[in-house]
Amino acid sequence: MIVNDKNQNDIMNQKLINSFEIDYIFGNKPINRYKNKPTIENIQQRLESLKKKILNISNCDLKNNSKQIVFNDGNLASQIMMVGEGPGQKEDELGKPFVGDAGQLLNKMLNAININRENIYITNVVNYRPPNNRKPEPAEINRYSEFLREHISIIDPKILILMGSTAMESLFGSKIKISQVRGIWKELIINNKTYLTMITFHPAYLLRQADQKKYSWTDLKEIRKQIDKLKLKV
Ligand code: URA
Repeated sequence: MIVNDKNQNDIMNQKLINSFEIDYIFGNKPINRYKNKPTIENIQQRLESLKKKILNISNCDLKNNSKQIVFNDGNLASQIMMVGEGPGQKEDELGKPFVGDAGQLLNKMLNAININRENIYITNVVNYRPPNNRKPEPAEINRYSEFLREHISIIDPKILILMGSTAMESLFGSKIKISQVRGIWKELIINNKTYLTMITFHPAYLLRQADQKKYSWTDLKEIRKQIDKLKLKV
């Protein structure tokens, strides 16, 4: 009988296995070669525990004066994460970020570069509405930045977009000016991981300063270019 190489190999392997006198059980389940890739359930669990931490915060002027937490919106598995400043009145009422006028503009900006808002992930620097829509104070930005950094680690985006000076300040400090750093790719390191980050103007600022929209458009085109280069799913 002619035995081809493959059969020969199979016979030899079987002999070898038998010689060990061990009962092997061969499952037909594929090997999980992506053991470290978090599952959606895992992301959900980690987000729930982060949300609980924020819900348990005490002595916080923001929490004490707001109706509810505004935690997130969008696709948990997204490769693109956007960070705003903090909830406004509408967001406070509905418990969802960017649902007011700034949110309407944000949707248009995303559509302009062919991104559907549902495919990205959105959160804010602070998760409770500041009284009278005031800017969060430096101490508040600081306090919440620990949560934001954990939030970024959990979502683990390929591209991080910071909208406005509060988001910039939360992660890069207050010594830089947004007009000087917007539109360029920066690296943000959290837990030894580097996140490709773009700082750009906040939509609410663009509603007040329409003449700045031209810069925002340049940034959006650059973001689109990077999405295409990295072949990200949006
Ligand atoms: N502005 C923000 O920064 N975040 C929101 O969720 C809404 C308006």
